[in-house]
Amino acid sequence: MPYAHITGWGISVPEPVLTNDDIAKMVDTNDEWIRDRTGIRERHIAREDEFPSTLGIDAAVKALQVANLAPTEIDLIICTSSSPEYIFPATACIIQDQIGATKAGAFDLLAACSGFIYATNMAAQAIRSGSIKNALVIGTETLSRFINWKDRNTCILFGDGAGAFVLQASEKPGGVLSAVMHSDGSGADSLTLLGGGARHPATETTVHEGKHYVQMDGKAVFRFATRVMGQAAKEALDLANLTTNDIQWIVPHQANYRIIETAAKYLKMPMDKFVINVDRYGNTSTASIPIATVEAVQNNQIKNGDKLVFVGFGAGLTWGALVAEWTGPLPSTSRRHVHPEQYRFFARLRSFVRRALRFIEGLFSRREL
Ligand code: UT7
Repeated sequence: MPYAHITGWGISVPEPVLTNDDIAKMVDTNDEWIRDRTGIRERHIAREDEFPSTLGIDAAVKALQVANLAPTEIDLIICTSSSPEYIFPATACIIQDQIGATKAGAFDLLAACSGFIYATNMAAQAIRSGSIKNALVIGTETLSRFINWKDRNTCILFGDGAGAFVLQASEKPGGVLSAVMHSDGSGADSLTLLGGGARHPATETTVHEGKHYVQMDGKAVFRFATRVMGQAAKEALDLANLTTNDIQWIVPHQANYRIIETAAKYLKMPMDKFVINVDRYGNTSTASIPIATVEAVQNNQIKNGDKLVFVGFGAGLTWGALVAEWTGPLPSTSRRHVHPEQYRFFARLRSFVRRALRFIEGLFSRREL
């Protein structure tokens, strides 16, 4: 049975930064309160021309560069987002088209902030089953578009960004070692974005009622998160026959510093084993785990051979954990150096030609009718 290794990684974060002081100009809050209660100092907010797809494409191409893998070799793309570009088509398909992943199947996975763990596990299982060889997993968000900037309960928390992993099959042991996924829909009301779906299609009333904004019972989510984070990490470690002593790093969902502290206490692990960057990014939902991981790799914290636990929670309610051995890019079988970024030009051209052909085909088929 092949192993599923994480062989490539990339992130894309919008440049504009929104500090706590900036938010204090919009709602009744202050920097000290936000830092004390959440650990957040600032977050990045997408520009008008940045979307989940554009950030996701950028992160994906970087991940392919690290893996030295051509987009044409990808079998499967799973994009996970709490702020997808549309209800449909899937953001994954837009990314597939724009990076030139010509033979990949692509779909979106919705599990809110646990999405990246769910998606990485699904991709790893597809590789482990032998049905595919190369997968791309992307977590990407422009949640700022769904935030009510007059609601101090939520607007202090979230930020935008994207992260991507490439997963590849190899006979060498390692890679994704275990995972657990959980859900409890009885807590669905705790964190919602109700408008625009089939239950509350967009109307003037849904807009007036604020149904197109994120709504949250912060305390309920806090209690749930502190209960499940440590448990899920422990469960995934048990499944992999490992203990916390075997682990070099825990990469938690970056929602709130205090939630991470509670998980550390439960696991009896020091805080310096936790990768934390919530102070500079806020909660980037599905992108928070890959952004934290990639920064830790770039800072030389996470090294090849390290064993890590990814653990997260979110709306649904959902939660989960995944244990992986960080092995880095697979040794190249050929000396060929791939330039995934160069495929973008041909991908755009191909997309344009296919749209034109579809248009011409439409003209002819209309005449036939
Ligand atoms: O990916 C999952 C996403 N969601 C989460 O992870 C959220 C989890 N929950 C949390 O992180 C925390 O519950 C919050 C950060 C949202 C809130 O922190 P808290 O310690 O639970 O505060 P609280 O709601 O209990 O509010 C305490 C006080 C209240 O005042 P009173 O009633 O004690 O006078 C609030 O009105 O703080 C007040 N407050 C604020 N003050 C300044 C609430 N929000 C703010 C604010 N600035 N932004």
